[in-house]
Amino acid sequence: MTAPAPRKRVGVLVSGTGTNLQALIDAAKAIDYPAEIAVVVSNVPTARALQRASDAGIPTAVIPHGDYPERAAFDRAVLEALARHRVELVCLAGFMRLLGREFLAAYEHRVLNIHPALLPAFPGMHAVRQALRYGAKISGCTVHLVDEGTDTGPIVAQAAVPVLEGDDEASLAARIHAEEHRLYPLALRLVAEGRAAVQGREVRVEAAPAAEGLTLRNPGS
Ligand code: GRF
Repeated sequence: MTAPAPRKRVGVLVSGTGTNLQALIDAAKAIDYPAEIAVVVSNVPTARALQRASDAGIPTAVIPHGDYPERAAFDRAVLEALARHRVELVCLAGFMRLLGREFLAAYEHRVLNIHPALLPAFPGMHAVRQALRYGAKISGCTVHLVDEGTDTGPIVAQAAVPVLEGDDEASLAARIHAEEHRLYPLALRLVAEGRAAVQGREVRVEAAPAAEGLTLRNPGS
């Protein structure tokens, strides 16, 4: 019998509430999940996400960006924290800082982000508000690899939700959030298992049948 592959060590970077972190923590409890959360790093000392990590017995590091005069120095401090915990993959989960070239070179094609829109539509801040403002009929969430742009990296997985009559920002955001919590663990699984290969601007996902929930769902289903 061959031994199971060692679980990939993941660092999760957060700034806020951490419901996506929680989804990853919960997913990683499954014995066959291919990743474990080795450390949670926050640039905000009061982030609720830190408490979630502590409650789960996961080490945390607080690195306030204001302590660093330059972004590169902040990035290096985060890299050092990740190295201390032998992190192999990085998940941004509501992390409100852009990462620079040096950081991304250190983790090339190994930094994931989740965004509350169907990219490339509505990148940046206030994505949910923008979708409503444009009268989008479908929105959703995207997990992508991080590059130097804002929400521009190659797409790993997406999930769609309907925009319903009478939706406001809170109701649509809640519907999207529920899908995020499903999608992020699935996408991390694909990457951790080496089933998401980067080819130019594209991520080719190997053997991701609809049953894994990575395809568009009918609004009514
Ligand atoms: C999510 O909507 C995610 O798409 C965006 O930031 C939000 C983080 O929420 N990048 P939470 O902290 O995971 O609850």
